[in-house]
Amino acid sequence: MKSFNTDGEFKDNYKFLIGSILPRPIAVVSTVNTDGSNNLAPFSFFTGVSAKPMIVGFSPLIRTSTGEKKDTVVNIEREKEFVINFVTEANAEKINLASTELPYGEDEFVFSGLTTLDSEVVKAKRLKESPIHFECRLRDILSYGDIPGTGRFITGEVVKIHVDEKLLDSGRILTDVFKPVGRGAGNDWIHCDHRFQMERLMKAQIQK
Ligand SMILES: Cc1cc2nc3c(=O)[nH]c(=O)nc-3n(C[C@H](O)[C@H](O)[C@H](O)COP(=O)(O)O)c2cc1C
Repeated sequence: MKSFNTDGEFKDNYKFLIGSILPRPIAVVSTVNTDGSNNLAPFSFFTGVSAKPMIVGFSPLIRTSTGEKKDTVVNIEREKEFVINFVTEANAEKINLASTELPYGEDEFVFSGLTTLDSEVVKAKRLKESPIHFECRLRDILSYGDIPGTGRFITGEVVKIHVDEKLLDSGRILTDVFKPVGRGAGNDWIHCDHRFQMERLMKAQIQK
């Protein structure tokens, strides 16, 4: 086995993060710009954090091209709210476009050919082409520094969930109807249509 220290270049550590943490779910985060236009960007450093209160978290890095905070961060610091939308086989290509580095205030919904839907609780818009939306209020921003490639962990409390009825069966989300897409290393994206099942052993079964 080869071993590596982590005190070198940002990009060396980054390669190990994106190559090891697989497959990664993708949060498509919608926020409002100062002029009222909409910002949309995907983040695959994304996870569920707590069921009650319902908390999710994602991690935007300091932009390596400019050394600045990403627009999503600037908007969340000011507005304290955002919406998390999801990537599916049907919307993946347009969401990839939404990751383009546009000047602040240029609307990524418009740029990517995507459609806004009003939210019920927060100002940020929902993405019509996503079958699930989480309206979130900011809980925490943990910052690990301000140099290019450094991350922040942003958590939000989900104050409203919207799910397309077609995805629902007795309150559960049907993966085969949802057709989520994940992120891999480099330019890889991952379909979720090749799964297998395993039952978990319960305590009683172990004690037999
Ligand atoms: C699928 C995908 C996942 C991404 N995940 C992240 C991520 O976890 N963290 C990050 O900082 N950038 C990530 N990016 C890059 C951002 O989407 C990109 O920097 C975007 O321009 C940020 O937009 P903003 O400035 O409007 O916030 C990802 C891009 C793609 C296509």
